[in-house]
Amino acid sequence: MKLKLSVIGCGYLGATHAACMSSLGFTVVGVDTDANKVAMLANGELPFYEPELDALLAQEIKTGRLSFTTDFSAVQDADVHFICVGTPQSSNSLAADLTYVNSAVTQLAPYLKAGAIVVGKSTVPVGTADALREQLSLSAPQADLAWNPEFLREGFAIEDTLRPNRLVVGVTNDRAESVLKEVYEPLLSAGVPWIRADLPTAELVKVAANSFLATKISFINAMAEVCEAAGGDVTVLAQAIGYDPRIGNKFLQAGIGFGGGCLPKDIRAFMARAEELGAMQALEFLREVDAINLRARQRVIDVVREELGEDLTKFRIAILGTTFKPDSDDVRDSPALDIAVQLRAAGASVVVHDPKGIEPARKRFPNLEYAQDLTVSIKDSNLLMHLTEWKEYRAIDPSSISHLVKDKIIIDGRNLLDRQLWRAAGWKFRALGRTD
Ligand code: UDX
Repeated sequence: MKLKLSVIGCGYLGATHAACMSSLGFTVVGVDTDANKVAMLANGELPFYEPELDALLAQEIKTGRLSFTTDFSAVQDADVHFICVGTPQSSNSLAADLTYVNSAVTQLAPYLKAGAIVVGKSTVPVGTADALREQLSLSAPQADLAWNPEFLREGFAIEDTLRPNRLVVGVTNDRAESVLKEVYEPLLSAGVPWIRADLPTAELVKVAANSFLATKISFINAMAEVCEAAGGDVTVLAQAIGYDPRIGNKFLQAGIGFGGGCLPKDIRAFMARAEELGAMQALEFLREVDAINLRARQRVIDVVREELGEDLTKFRIAILGTTFKPDSDDVRDSPALDIAVQLRAAGASVVVHDPKGIEPARKRFPNLEYAQDLTVSIKDSNLLMHLTEWKEYRAIDPSSISHLVKDKIIIDGRNLLDRQLWRAAGWKFRALGRTD
């Protein structure tokens, strides 16, 4: 008999996990407290944008294997319960807010059958799994707890779930490992590496990986600052160091830095947890990583002032991009949106475009001016800023938009546009980390 699964928390991670597990042939019930979200998912509609996930969701709903509900009692037949709720930054500290994780486990406990395994996927401070295991040993001693961190990138959610680089499972006994091996059998037989760890290590793998990625981006942005001071070009520098396989060329794209629902809050929560553990000195560098990252947003605003002057009130600035990265409609801690808001606060007239992120951005910042149409957003601008690296922006032919703008100045905040092409069309081209 195939195992039955439940997924608690049907946001980005949970909805993806539920649909992907269903596509492997499991019966999956997704539970979320948000009735609107559940209604949409149950109807085969995705409440956010992720390439190809809408089609997979609709297809799996049709099979009858995948269902969604707000009712926790629907999980009582399940053998394995994946906790996929959010762990946002607390409102009053750098630490992660564990309210949703704790409440998911509390609400699940009365419905756990004998031998059931609760598997945490949410990103949590190290030590959380041990504490939850303790809690379950009182409220549901018939069940077990394991940790299986997720590494999915927005824009590649299906790929990263069904063909991950590795599977990491934190377990305290062989049975939990063998049940999880049964769940992931199709992935294992396709050659995905399997790493068994203890609970704290499994929790740490996730934050260590995200800290490393954040450090790589801030490293190249620090080099960009030095290049600016020294008259160098960070794009050439990144290319040159990236050929060394020990360094590698990924995550060395200098620009306005990282954002999103993971990297910024994960490095902060990691620092907060290290402090509690008395190990803060080891993570002191992450403070700098965070500071370099936030400084990149200010540096691009400095370039705007160099071009337009200190008084921005007379100028219209067109911003290309609101999301924190392309192929996503996620605007959480988006550098692009932050910069748009800051320029607007400085008095500039700002109009923002994005292929998918306008509505989520409008919800957060209703007072910004938005344009669905690229041409409309660019019209009469004094300055164009490329802040999210959507491929449609790289496809813009600068000569075909020259007649629309007042001044032909572009700042490439992602170092991905073809500088030659823009200059050949008569544009002044500025970027971070390149003095030329
Ligand atoms: C990240 C991790 O990559 C993923 O493994 C984890 O599970 C969740 O967090 P995601 O938040 O989707 O995934 O974003 P990611 O692709 O890592 O990009 C993060 C940010 O860094 C984006 O704002 C991106 O624009 C920026 N970035 C990325 C750079 O500025 N330069 C780079 O070279 C790479």
